[in-house]
Amino acid sequence: MRLTERVHHDLKQHIHLGDAVIDATAGNGHDTLFLAQTVGKKGHVFTFDIQAQALKNTRQRVEKHLNTAPVEYIHNGHEQMQAKLPLDYHGHIQAIVFNLGYLPQAAHTMITTPQTTLNALQQACALLGQGGIISILAYTGHDGGREEAEAIKQWLFTLNENFEYHIEIPQNTRLSPPEYIFIHKISSEVIHT
Ligand SMILES: C[S@@+](CC[C@H](N)C(=O)[O-])C[C@H]1O[C@@H](n2cnc3c(N)ncnc32)[C@H](O)[C@@H]1O
Repeated sequence: MRLTERVHHDLKQHIHLGDAVIDATAGNGHDTLFLAQTVGKKGHVFTFDIQAQALKNTRQRVEKHLNTAPVEYIHNGHEQMQAKLPLDYHGHIQAIVFNLGYLPQAAHTMITTPQTTLNALQQACALLGQGGIISILAYTGHDGGREEAEAIKQWLFTLNENFEYHIEIPQNTRLSPPEYIFIHKISSEVIHT
């Protein structure tokens, strides 16, 4: 099973018809389509990308299918997630999908960066409802990819006990395999320190 299929398989265990979900990196729309099909017509998908072309590709992919959720295409960085999401959805998002890096077949300059990714992840944690999940696929073979993956793993240590996570790095495969991180919000309680 390809890692992207594996991510979808895991997401399916946690997403239900009618859920509201976010694709943090629309790209060519594979993840947005998967989410829109999984939450169905009564669900809602918000999909972000900094590239108009990515949102166009995503819209074209989704519109070829019936019975998908309404999708909001947001031409903005995922680091604007909280500001761009209607308040009604804050604390009620069931899944947020990050598939990092660059848009295949496009300029490799429009790429996710550690600073904006960590900023978005922090916001994503606040937007999730109890039981919600964040999946992250971090590619390490391109310039800056390794640094981004390491920054995310360091950031995981800052999560409080409301969150559980696991990290999966395929062994004995390629020199720079993609890293898969899955975060589960097990509680929404306010923690007093
Ligand atoms: C690997 S692709 C995503 C693949 C996509 N999920 C799919 O299913 O086809 C990464 C995407 O992240 C986008 N991106 C880069 N920085 C971003 C940011 N700050 N906010 C949102 N998207 C960003 C790129 O433009 C690119 O389209």
